[in-house]
Amino acid sequence: MPKDTNDQTGPRHVAIIMDGNGRWAQQRNRPRLVGHHAGARRVKEIVRACPDVGVKYLTIFAFSTENWKRTQSEVSGLMRLFRRYIEREARDLLAEGVRVRFIGDRDRLDRKLVSLMDSLELLTSHNEKVHLTIALNYGGRDEVTRAAKRLAYEIEQGRLTHKDVDAETLGRFLDTHFLPDPDLVIRTSGEARISNFLLWQSAYAEYEFIDTLWPDFTAAEFARVLSGYGVRERRFGAVPA
Ligand code: IPE
Ligand code: IPE
Ligand code: MG
Repeated sequence: MPKDTNDQTGPRHVAIIMDGNGRWAQQRNRPRLVGHHAGARRVKEIVRACPDVGVKYLTIFAFSTENWKRTQSEVSGLMRLFRRYIEREARDLLAEGVRVRFIGDRDRLDRKLVSLMDSLELLTSHNEKVHLTIALNYGGRDEVTRAAKRLAYEIEQGRLTHKDVDAETLGRFLDTHFLPDPDLVIRTSGEARISNFLLWQSAYAEYEFIDTLWPDFTAAEFARVLSGYGVRERRFGAVPA
């Protein structure tokens, strides 16, 4: 049953650091890219599960601004995978009511990929069942830096003054300006770090660090993780009522 009302107890916006593809492949003596392909297949299952578990916004970390440090063959394999994913999944995403948007710096991505990203955003722009945001060449520091630069430019042009600079205004310059803050951030593969993901937006998010490697993360496990969320008390700095 889709839940999008104020009686919602589960998280409305879940963000996932999909980690562990490389180790999954390594355990099978296969190249790292095999793990990335297996990981991409899981994305579909998790996106499809969202309406049933009341998740309206799903944000997934696909490639960080630091992932360029990997070997050229892994990076180009991942870029090829992203292109193929968009080409192959566009129809199903459209049919399933998923609105897809991308966050991150597009300037360093190849033209063909960026044009596929733009088309998918446009194609699915009238959907509203699930809002899927894919972070591609995304880094929290990079995002805040780009936002600050654009804000400075607005001031330089005289459209804003320094007095307009507050958290709300800065938020409007972030890549995520169209998204609510995440309620829950999940990271798979046992690593308990943020790795530059949604730094600003996760100020009051809950975190779940799961040992499962991303290619093994099923919809059933996703539902289990979400069910644990309802019992937490989020205080946002206040004293409980
Ligand atoms: C996450 O899996 C996917 C990307 C960062 C693109 P990894 O590739 O980081 O997998 P591990 O951490 O090496 O196992
Ligand atoms: C974070 O995973 C980035 C993505 C999942 C896309 P990494 O594997 O790149 O993070 P570190 O290097 O372990 O911090
Ligand atoms: Mg990793």
